[in-house]
Amino acid sequence: MTRLVLLLVTSIVTLMSTPIMAAGDPVAGQEKSAPCQACHGPDGNSTDPQFPRLAGQYADYLVLTLEQYQTGVRKNPIMAGFAANLTDQDRQDLAAFFAGQANSLHVIGYGP
Ligand code: HEC
Repeated sequence: MTRLVLLLVTSIVTLMSTPIMAAGDPVAGQEKSAPCQACHGPDGNSTDPQFPRLAGQYADYLVLTLEQYQTGVRKNPIMAGFAANLTDQDRQDLAAFFAGQANSLHVIGYGP
């Protein structure tokens, strides 16, 4: 009985300390972003208003959005194609890369 309780406690502690998703690797993400750059810009700062800026966006949002394009929850014919073959790790890596880029949006006359 004591061993069973110990085993349970150890399992719960292990589960609680294991991250649910592996963290993204921004260096791998940059490599994987090659096909994205034509539209979203090399660092995610697209200068064409029809392509959203990804630079500085929350990583969680980027991961979720890419999942939604893949599953069809968010519908867009262009992005459905680019999201179709991404793995969980790809999404994490791409999100880590774009989220880490400085966003060039600013208000003229304010800030540094
Ligand atoms: C041919 C142009 C093109 C390419 C290449 C492309 N995208 Fe997109 N992307 C778009 C367009 C257009 C939208 C806006 C779609 C919409 O309205 O949902 C978009 C939207 C997104 C969004 C949602 C942004 C937001 O603010 O909600 C993410 C995230 C994204 N793209 C990531 C990527 C990634 C990662 C890649 C590479 C794997 C990629 N895109 C490649 C055109 C492109």
